[in-house]
Parts: sequence; structure tokens; C-alpha cells
Amino acid sequence: MLRVDRLTVGYDSVPVIFDVSFSIQEGELVSIVGSNGAGKSTILRTISGLLKPFSGTIEFMGHRIDKLPAHQIVKLGIAHVPEGRHVLGKMSVKDNLLMGAYTINDKIEIQRLLDEMYELFPRLKERENQKAETMSGGEQQMLAIARALMSKPKLLLVDEMSLGLMPLMVDKVLEVLKEVNKKKGLTILMVEQKVQEALEIADRGYILQTGKIVAHGTGRELLESDLVKKAYLGM
Ligand SMILES: Nc1ncnc2c1ncn2[C@@H]1O[C@H](COP(=O)(O)OP(=O)(O)O)[C@@H](O)[C@H]1O
Ligand SMILES: [Mg+2]
Repeated sequence: MLRVDRLTVGYDSVPVIFDVSFSIQEGELVSIVGSNGAGKSTILRTISGLLKPFSGTIEFMGHRIDKLPAHQIVKLGIAHVPEGRHVLGKMSVKDNLLMGAYTINDKIEIQRLLDEMYELFPRLKERENQKAETMSGGEQQMLAIARALMSKPKLLLVDEMSLGLMPLMVDKVLEVLKEVNKKKGLTILMVEQKVQEALEIADRGYILQTGKIVAHGTGRELLESDLVKKAYLGM
């Protein structure tokens, strides 16, 4: 579904991602894991069109997308939950969700999507009319994910959902992502510093170190590898 081939990209002509290749099949949940500064967010920003590759290509469902503007990439079905969530604090939960559906014109369909989100995230239904800023970090993360789902994406990009959340909340949000992946068949690419948690729920994973992919495999293979045990799990 997504193929990133020999991607080099960075800021002000200084590369921070070097010759990175990976791919995602339809229905998979894939994690790219690595430490702070490894380049995880840069990769997601490039897929969603906010940054343009210095070289390399990105193909989504048979289309080259690496030269398209971000709004066209959204229309093709890629939704991005950015690092730090960026929900609109002064707006209600419901209005935040409706914003996610801005590419959809059909009112009945929008209502159906709202109902679906409230079923997936009952907490958001309870807080529908509350300002987003009054919710906990975990609830805001759920809202950011639900807002992205309102655009009916084919591929969901999730940047560091664990940031600033308590461990229990991290597990909860991961559970929801796994559920959306398995029950609705949504393809998900997440990037995470929480290496263990992210590999445990992933079908496959890639290890990113200072802008380069140094290992890949199934979540289990990576968790059992010496590289991951030594570098990330402190064993
Ligand atoms: N807007 C920016 N301008 C310049 N350099 C940046 C910018 N954003 C990130 N970087 C640099 O790019 C590298 C990768 O950053 P990032 O993709 O944010 O890593 P991660 O998400 O894995 O923590 C880091 O060295 C970071 O300092
Ligand atoms: Mg980041």
C-alpha cells in the first residue's frame, strides 16, 4: 500500500534521513521505533507532504505522492496524527471531530462517522460538548486519533502517541489502535520512542538510528534481537 524507496530528506538542505526504504501492506500495523532525534517525525512529515524529499520516492496505492501538496495527500486517504496532538483546546470535542471530516460533504455520512467514533471512544461521547482543553492528555490523544479517523483514511500515521502519557494511558491508546487495525482493517504506521510497547502490538517494525534503518522484522523478531535488547530494553 505504501512504499518508501531510498528516501533522503531533512531541513534547509541538511539531510537527517538517509536512504531510508520501507513498505507497508494493506491491513498491517507497522511501527518505526527509535530514540529522540532519530528522525521519526521527519519521515511522517514527508509522507504526508509537509516536507519534500531531497531524493527518493514515495508511492501510495500505486500513485507517486512525493511531489503532491499535503491537502491532496489527505484526499488520497492518508491521515496524520501529529506529535503533540494539536487538538483545538477552545473548541468542543464534537467540533474538533467535525473538523476532521472537512473533506466529506455528505451530512448523513458525517453523522454516521461521529456515531462510530463515539462507539469506539465512549469517553468522547460523554465529553462531546466540553472544551477539548479540559480533558486529560490521554483523552486528548484519543480525540486526536478520532479526529484523524473522521476523514475515513486508508492509512493512519500516528506520531509518538505515548508522549507525556502515563504508562496505563499509553497501553489504553495502543489497545484502541490495535482494535481499529484488527476490527476495521485500517492500515497504521506509528512511530514511537516507547520501543517495547510499539513492537509488542506491531505486525512488523523498523529500527531507526540517526536517520538510518538498521534492522527490520516482525515485532517479535525485533523484540528478541540482541540489537533491541541491548540498545532499547537495557538487557
Ligand atoms: N524544523 C526543523 N528544523 C531543523 N531541524 C529539525 C527540525 N525538526 C527536526 N529537526 C532535526 O532533525 C532530526 C530528526 O528530528 P525528528 O524527525 O523530529 O526526530 P524524532 O521524531 O525521531 O525525535 C533531529 O536532529 C532534529 O534536530
Ligand atoms: Mg518526533
